[in-house]
Amino acid sequence: MDNFYKIIENKMKDALVSCGYEVEEAQINESNRPDLGEYQYNGVMNLAKIYHKSPVSIATEVVNVLKNDSTFSSISVAGPGFINMTLSNEFLINYINNVSFSYSKNDKLIFLDYGGANVAKSLHVGHLRSANIGEALKRLCEFLGYNTISDTHLGDFGRPLGLVILELSKRHPEWVYFDKNFNGEYPSEIALTNKDLEEIYPYASMMAKEDENYLKEAQDMTKRLQNYEKGIYELWKKIMEISKRDIKNIYDRLNATFDLYKGESDAEKIVPEMLNYLDKLNVVVESEGAKVIPVSEEDDKLEIPPMLLIKSDGGILYSTTELATIYDRMKEYSPDEIWYIVDKRQDLHFTQVFRAARKANIIKGTTKLVFAGFGTMNGKDGKPFKTRDGGVMKLEDLLSLVKEESLKRLNSNIIDNRDSIAEDIAMSAVKYADMISSRESDYIFDIEKFSSLEGKTGPFILYSTIRMRSLLNKASEQGIKYEKISKINNLIDKDIYLKLNDFNKVLECSFNSKSLNDITDYLYNLTTSYNRFYSENTVLKESDEELRESWLYLTKIVYDVNMKLLNILAINVPEVM
Ligand code: ARG
Repeated sequence: MDNFYKIIENKMKDALVSCGYEVEEAQINESNRPDLGEYQYNGVMNLAKIYHKSPVSIATEVVNVLKNDSTFSSISVAGPGFINMTLSNEFLINYINNVSFSYSKNDKLIFLDYGGANVAKSLHVGHLRSANIGEALKRLCEFLGYNTISDTHLGDFGRPLGLVILELSKRHPEWVYFDKNFNGEYPSEIALTNKDLEEIYPYASMMAKEDENYLKEAQDMTKRLQNYEKGIYELWKKIMEISKRDIKNIYDRLNATFDLYKGESDAEKIVPEMLNYLDKLNVVVESEGAKVIPVSEEDDKLEIPPMLLIKSDGGILYSTTELATIYDRMKEYSPDEIWYIVDKRQDLHFTQVFRAARKANIIKGTTKLVFAGFGTMNGKDGKPFKTRDGGVMKLEDLLSLVKEESLKRLNSNIIDNRDSIAEDIAMSAVKYADMISSRESDYIFDIEKFSSLEGKTGPFILYSTIRMRSLLNKASEQGIKYEKISKINNLIDKDIYLKLNDFNKVLECSFNSKSLNDITDYLYNLTTSYNRFYSENTVLKESDEELRESWLYLTKIVYDVNMKLLNILAINVPEVM
């Protein structure tokens, strides 16, 4: 979609050309002197040099061409040759009645990797931003017309699984999974819950740190799993089932949707084929018994170590399955871009893998690999958010805390659906806060601040949006129709029109920076402008019917825009609040 900058820029360009000045484009900027005009054209200075004329005389010629154009309520020359302009209501009305806030489909495919849950380990607060930012970026891509595929890339085949299975073998040696001679059918039920797993992993992990023997046994168990030993693999499938159910529950709460629930275990199956492919190229070298792909480049400021492909004991690593995942994605889907929404501390890992993928032609020359790393969510002490006793906080517990706060604050007049309304509000608080700080910065998690109905918060946006909806509903109940805009009342109204014009600029900016803060900021600014208008006018009581209709239609546009943006951010809007 276009905004009206394009229209004004084309007018300006045509006027310049008609006066005999050759220009490719005529960039219009917001004016830094709003008292003289809303927008400004500053290109005359340059033309003056080229055509050896005074800037003021060129500007005057152009203004003479445009001064009767109905686009502008005023256009004038200021200072040494700036052209200031203010848009006419007529132009704005026509524009806003005809603009559609949508994009047409294109044929590009963007593959997004986010979520990144680890099986048999609880999701922790570190996984929150990946799910929130990732899901919003996916929806943004879709909104802008791209095709998308999302994959959560589960951590499901490495060390943690070896640890958990080892500990289970100690607690339940009688389980048939551990009987190497077992030949029958494995049971369909297993006495194991997600709660058990949540307790077992930290215990086993602690044991491996304290007891060298235990660590060795765990490494051995990981190998047995990676060699697909029958019983171990069957048990692993059970663990996957139990753990995935729980992971999906939390992703559902966050509105994080994945087309694929693939993981490291799927990539592991591709490794032999990839190694075979790599064998034919000259990119893998031996180093101290291991196989690596050197990836350093001449102008690196810091030395980038080679990507480890196969350990000296023959084992594979995080980077091996990562590369195999790219291999698989290219083969299966051939995306134009792959975006990774992962903790920014994994930067080096991705630099190595991306370079290796390019060097080995696993991706096409045109394929873009994008590492969209995010900063940490910290507690008020500025350190990564912890539980009261200093442990890593489970994501589920964090969501419960925020929900309690929302329930506490929920209007007591609301009787029905309190729980689901509080859930929506809580998720809006968490998500909005997560995205209002730019992707790469760390931020401090402050439940009270984020749950407040005032300021840059999810609940504030929800509350205001619901109020717009109820105004529109009231109008409909009273049989009042609103189908177009025919009047702009004053500068307070006009401010909303001018802000609406920034819609596509904001979305495209977010797309380019892979950060949602432009959108969250814009939502806040547009909503605040609207609230100002709302508090200064009694829309339904307005006796001028044309004005009342215009105000209602404007409300509908702002409401629709808010709903679209909230949907991109994957924030639900409750019925009441
Ligand atoms: N499971 C990883 C973690 O918890 C995140 C996975 C990110 N995605 C990827 N393709 N490596 O740190």
